[in-house]
Amino acid sequence: MPNPILAPFPATRLRRLRQSPAMRAMLSETTLSPAHLIWPVFVTEIEGADVEIAAMPGVRRYTPESVKTAAEAAARAGIGAICVFPHSDQASKTDDCARAWDADNIGNRAIRAIKDAVPEMLVMTDIALDPYNASGQDGLVRDGVVLNDETIEALVRMALVQAECGADILGPSDMMDGRIGALRSAMESAGHKDIAIMSYAAKFASAFYGPFRDAVGAAERLTGDKKTYQINPGNRAEALRCVARDLSEGADMVMVKPGMPYLDICRDVRERFDAPTFAYQVSGEYAMLAGAIQRGWLGRETVLESLIAFRRAGCDGILTYFAPEIAEMLA
Ligand code: PBG
Repeated sequence: MPNPILAPFPATRLRRLRQSPAMRAMLSETTLSPAHLIWPVFVTEIEGADVEIAAMPGVRRYTPESVKTAAEAAARAGIGAICVFPHSDQASKTDDCARAWDADNIGNRAIRAIKDAVPEMLVMTDIALDPYNASGQDGLVRDGVVLNDETIEALVRMALVQAECGADILGPSDMMDGRIGALRSAMESAGHKDIAIMSYAAKFASAFYGPFRDAVGAAERLTGDKKTYQINPGNRAEALRCVARDLSEGADMVMVKPGMPYLDICRDVRERFDAPTFAYQVSGEYAMLAGAIQRGWLGRETVLESLIAFRRAGCDGILTYFAPEIAEMLA
């Protein structure tokens, strides 16, 4: 970008353009509207588990019934998309993850419930085996190793059922190699040509996912980490290779995750690929802000500022647990 030509002070007084609300509004470079937000929701099949998540004050699990009312309210506030995360019965988690492609699993019931209540709401899914896996890993495990190619076959089965249940956007969050191409061609052959894929392309092996793993009940299962498939937090070039690869396999949109500690990657992706770019403000980021706000250590405006920062960094949209409250604030 060329540098603006600045006359020396006092001809140039940059404060002239900040002097009133109307002047500031007229010159605002970055916009944020409810349509830019995707709201991740947790849905449980366990009786009595539709409670607030300990490390996420203000975020709760829904039931397939109560998520309908939540979706209606979100639609009224202008939110266009909801991403479903299942909290499934511990007893249904197996090594073969067969529950993942059961049309009556809790994730699929939630898709149908939301589409039934608000047909125009876009429903995004999570494609990874962790909610249904005895090991808590995103892929099939054999002899302690997370298998790549076998996992892809399972993910394709999972995605085809989600598509049948009415999903609009598939969100592969598993980080296996080759999954985007496999999912795309499975959708084309099954006649789901208009189902979009938002790839969790630059997904880092992050400790900021901690509260999420409690919310979906994966924490108690997971031993070890996800470092053989999620990206090393220090690796920028590798993250960009992942994005390039996923776009070349047919991803319609790409995501950077976590969000706020990785805004440099968001900017890189926007500039290098100019493809639809999203960031996920993950559970740990939510916990930091919501926890500090609850204690009175930070003001609520920090949330809006954090979302504006994603837009300024070049993101088209943001997945955020703050979506309903911000949408109301913006409306
Ligand atoms: C699992 C998945 C995770 C998140 C979204 N999908 C956790 C993980 O990779 O362990 C994290 C979301 C969050 O922290 O808010 N496939």
